[in-house]
Parts: sequence; structure tokens; C-alpha cells
Amino acid sequence: MFCYVIRKKKTMKFLIYLVVFVLLFNGLTANRVENSLVQKYCNQSSQYGERHFYKFCIASLEENVESRKARNVDDLTLIGTNNALSNLTNVKRIVEKILNERKYKSKLSKKLLQNCLKLYSEGYEALTSALKYIKMHDLLKLSFRLKKAKEAASICEMGFNGDNQQISPVMKENEVLFDVINIPYMFNFNRHR
Ligand SMILES: *[C@@H]1O[C@H](CO)[C@@H](O)[C@H](O)[C@H]1NC(C)=O
Ligand SMILES: *[C@@H]1O[C@H](CO)[C@@H](O)[C@H](O)[C@H]1NC(C)=O
Repeated sequence: MFCYVIRKKKTMKFLIYLVVFVLLFNGLTANRVENSLVQKYCNQSSQYGERHFYKFCIASLEENVESRKARNVDDLTLIGTNNALSNLTNVKRIVEKILNERKYKSKLSKKLLQNCLKLYSEGYEALTSALKYIKMHDLLKLSFRLKKAKEAASICEMGFNGDNQQISPVMKENEVLFDVINIPYMFNFNRHR
């Protein structure tokens, strides 16, 4: 009787080890699949982008836990576009704060920042339609929308040029935003190239 109880305990322990091992192993392989998918498409896209793009692309996608579940380039394009939406919303908030707190350096800077807000709103709409076009598999319209969203960042930045002596308070943010939107844009671009 005593021996039986011990054996049962040992069997239980073994089963628990087994379950833990299986869970751990599954987690590891799932991660490896995710990484190779992200790496594959970031690599493909960085061939035409700038050199820093590859690392940035991987870091940005892996920041989002959703990419662990991504099965294909559609999923990654969707995740990239959602990342872009949240990034754009954050940059928009930063600019709103500067305007509300009157932290701008000049009247002209204020005007330029107000124009940026308008561009971000248009960019937001473009990204929202982009989500729709991913689901509809309309790659051409998707490309057009993502391009428009990227332009929100670059046109906002162009307002602050050397000629008018204005310095953008969100230069870094706009640069990063452009790259974040460039991720789904390049993923999509490579599909119908
Ligand atoms: C990208 O893929 C190519 C092959 O298509 C490979 O030669 C290259 O080393 C890869 N680059 C990176 C940064 O992984
Ligand atoms: C935008 O996304 C990048 C990369 O995912 C991140 O490093 C950066 O902090 C984000 N910026 C804002 C303002 O959310």
C-alpha cells in the first residue's frame, strides 16, 4: 500500500514534468516560427530601404505580442498598420500638447504644427481605410492609403525647413513614424512588385 502511494506520487511528478516540458517546447518553437517570419519579410523589405530599416522593422514588429501569432505576410501587414495607427496617435497627441501648452517657438511654428495636426487626421483616416483594404485584399488601394499616411509625417516635417528658420519640435517622432508606416507599406509593395 505504502509503495503504491509513492509510485503514484512519482507518476504524478513525472506527468507534471511532461506537461511543463511540452508547454515550454511549444512556446519555443512558436517563437522561432514567429521570428523567422518577421525576419524574412523585414529582410525582403530592407533590400530597397535604408540600411537601418532591417533592425528597426524587426524591433518594431516584435514589440507587438500579436506578431507571435502571425501566420503570413497578411497578418504582419495588419500588425504593422495597427502599430502605425498607435504611433501616429501618439505623435498627434504630442503636437496637441505643444499647441495647448503654447510651447511653440513662434507664430509660424504654431501655424505649421496646426497644419501637422490636419495631416495626422488625414493620415489616421488613411490608415483606418488601409485596415479595411488589408481585409479586402485590395493591395493597390492599400498601397495608396499607406503612402498617403507616410506623407503625413514627411509633409509635416517639410514645413519646418531651413528657409523659414523653423525647427520642428517633433522631427525625431516624424522620422520614426515614417519608418513605422513604411513597414506595412514595404511588405505590401513587395507582394505586387
Ligand atoms: C537577407 O536575405 C538574403 C538572401 O535572400 C541573405 O543573403 C541576407 O544575408 C539576408 N540579410 C539579412 C540582414 O538577414
Ligand atoms: C513609435 O514606434 C516606435 C517603434 O515601434 C517606438 O520606438 C516609438 O517609441 C513610437 N513612438 C511613439 C511616439 O509612440
